[in-house]
Amino acid sequence: MAELLTLSRHILQQARDHHEATGDFNLLMSHIATATKVVARQVSKAGLLNVLGKTGDTNVQGEEVTKLDIIANESLKAMLDDLPMVCALASEEDASFVTTRAGATSGRYLIAFDPLDGSSNIDVNVSIGTIFSVRRRATVGELPTEADFLGPGSELVAAGYAVYGSSTMFVYTTGKGVDGFTLDPGVGEYVLSHRNMTLPDRCRVLSINGTNRDRWYPGTQAFVDHIVGRTEARYERTTGRYIGSLVADFHRNLIYGGVFAYPADTSSPEGKLRLLFEAQPLALIIEQAGGAATDGRQRILDIRPDGLHARATLVIGNTREVELYGRYEAAHGQP
Ligand code: AHG
Ligand code: MN
Ligand code: MN
Repeated sequence: MAELLTLSRHILQQARDHHEATGDFNLLMSHIATATKVVARQVSKAGLLNVLGKTGDTNVQGEEVTKLDIIANESLKAMLDDLPMVCALASEEDASFVTTRAGATSGRYLIAFDPLDGSSNIDVNVSIGTIFSVRRRATVGELPTEADFLGPGSELVAAGYAVYGSSTMFVYTTGKGVDGFTLDPGVGEYVLSHRNMTLPDRCRVLSINGTNRDRWYPGTQAFVDHIVGRTEARYERTTGRYIGSLVADFHRNLIYGGVFAYPADTSSPEGKLRLLFEAQPLALIIEQAGGAATDGRQRILDIRPDGLHARATLVIGNTREVELYGRYEAAHGQP
């Protein structure tokens, strides 16, 4: 039988090879992965547990909250609360961050997460996921502040996601490439299935919600027209795919090659997606896989969010297309 390289073993091997990661950090990563397995189990049983549907509340973003959103959020917070090396947790579902029971003053790491990305797909059995990032704070020994979370994405020490699809996968980077693992339900472990993931040098897919076209700014319209209309051999087969779960759209594009765009538009002038919980972690992953991410003006990883829930345009995928978006936006002027 082929050797199973589990995520825990992979984390230990990487630490050994790079002589950098501390035992603390390894435990932190393994624990995040375990937490996503708990969410995967909840997602897989959602139809059986009477947790589909809306709670009737809206979250801090003013969006309807589904029950599984809450369950995933609470599970992740409970699982990560025990880690002494983590001082605080910020979730897309909560207005402010929480300090952990175990490490509020002494923990060096902060974790931000989107507990369930793709909420509109929960009730219809379409892929959803969890996105996370880890950063180190400058000073320890005091209670963390919101400002500790608000560094640029270039300062992240790790980022990743789990996608709950036809199988459950866990994809992460610590800044040394991107590796993907598939949950083996028999073993109950993530097993290395996609070593050193790199974005194919071809834009096979364009992912954008085309029904927003009447709200797009001219640069976005020109960009999409260019991609759809081009006939060079390299692009001939660029096709449209849009799931409505960023994490699943991103995962597909990472494997096939492609660009995902959620631009600011006239009804969301700041953009829809969140810098801290969605754009930063995926931008770190795409750069590590050889791609790029922009808000149309600057590299996503260079942006300093001005709040936990700051939003931005996100255009992410093949470097050539991401740069092209920036050129179209510049040519048509900023709104
Ligand atoms: P979330 O479920 O965490 O609120 O995120 C939803 C996001 C993202 O996953 C997806 O790409 C996008 O919203 C879809 O938005 P539209 O329905 O406006 O296309
Ligand atoms: Mn999301
Ligand atoms: Mn979410």
